[in-house]
Amino acid sequence: MTSSPLANLATQKAGLLAAIAALATLDDLREAEPAITGKRSILSTLQKSLGSLEPDARREAGAQLQEARREVEAALELRRTVLAAAARAVLLESDRLDLGDVVVGAVRWPASAGHPGLVASTQRALEDVFVGMGFTVAEGPEVESDWYNFEALNIPPAHPARGMWDTFYVDLGEPETVVLRTHTSPTQIHLMEVAVAADSLPIHSVMPGRCYRRDTPDARHLAAFHQIEGLVVDRGITFADLAGVIETFTRAYFGPDIESRLRPAFFPFTEPSAEFEVTCTICRGEGCRTCSQTGWIELGGCGMLDPAVLEAVGIDGEVWSGFAFGFGVDRCAQMRHQIADMRALIENDTRFLRQFS
Ligand code: PHE
Repeated sequence: MTSSPLANLATQKAGLLAAIAALATLDDLREAEPAITGKRSILSTLQKSLGSLEPDARREAGAQLQEARREVEAALELRRTVLAAAARAVLLESDRLDLGDVVVGAVRWPASAGHPGLVASTQRALEDVFVGMGFTVAEGPEVESDWYNFEALNIPPAHPARGMWDTFYVDLGEPETVVLRTHTSPTQIHLMEVAVAADSLPIHSVMPGRCYRRDTPDARHLAAFHQIEGLVVDRGITFADLAGVIETFTRAYFGPDIESRLRPAFFPFTEPSAEFEVTCTICRGEGCRTCSQTGWIELGGCGMLDPAVLEAVGIDGEVWSGFAFGFGVDRCAQMRHQIADMRALIENDTRFLRQFS
C-alpha cells in the first residue's frame, strides 16, 4: 500500500504556521509569501500529487488540503495585519515632531493662518476626556469589506438590521462586498483581531473617525459624519462599568449639570443594548423644540459585547467580557455649541468657522 501524499500534512502545516508566526516584518512576509501559499509552495505541490489518487480518496484528501490551506492563508493575513499595525506605529513615532523648542511668540504667523475646524477640535477634546479615563486611541480604515462592517458584527447578509445603515457601496470586487464604513464599529473588530494575534488583551480603546451613510443632509444629519467608538474587553466587565463610563464621560465633557441615561435598544453586535441620552444642553432639561420637549437628546448606542462577536474574532467569552459604545462627534459639537443646523459644519462660511478659532 502506498502511503497517502498527505501523511505528513499536520506536521507540514504546523511548520508553515510556525514560519508565519516568525515573520518579523512586512518585507519578510512579502518575500516568504510565494513559498508559503504560491505555485511552488508545499501546499501546491501536495495539490498536484492528489491527481494520482482514486476519485474518493482524492475528494477526501482535497477537502483536507483545502482546510489546511484556508488555515495557513488566514494565519498569513492576520500576520499581515499585525505587522502592518506595528509598521504604522513605528512610522507614527518617527513622524512625531518635537516642537517643544519653538518659541511661538517669535514666529510671525500670517493673519489668516487658519485653525483646526470645529469637528477636528471636538474629536481631540473627546479623545482627551477618554485618554484621561485610561483609554488609548486607535484608528481604522474608512473603506471596509462587508465582513468587517457587517458580518463580523453579527449582521449576516439579508439580516433586517442592515436596513439600519443606508450604505454606500464601493465599485470594487464582487458587487456589494466593499463599503464606505457606515459606523466606526468595524474598528472594534480590527482591534480585537490584532489583540488576539499579539496576545495583548485586555483592550480599553476609543476609535474616532469618519463614517458615511446615504442620508439626505438636514439640520441633524450629514452623509459624511464622524463617530467615536469605545471598546473594553477585560475580565469581569459588567453593565455597571459601561453605565459608569458613559456617565463619567458625559459630566467630564459637557459639564457637571448634564446627566446621562440609558434606554433599552437593539444593536446586533451588543446584548443587552441601550441608547444613551444626555440632558438637552439647549434647555438644560426644561424641554424645548430641539429635544421635542423631552429634556433629553440621544447621543449614541452602547451595550455588552454579543458572544457572537467575540466568537467571530476568536476571543473566549468564558474568560473575557466587555462593552462597546459609539456616538456622533458632530452631534457632540452641535450640542456643546448649540448649533441649530449641522450643515454649517461643512459649508466653509468663514463667519461661522472663525467663532471656533
Ligand atoms: N455602531 C452603532 C451605530 O452607528 C452604535 C453602537 C456602537 C452601538 C457600539 C452599540 C455599540 O448605530
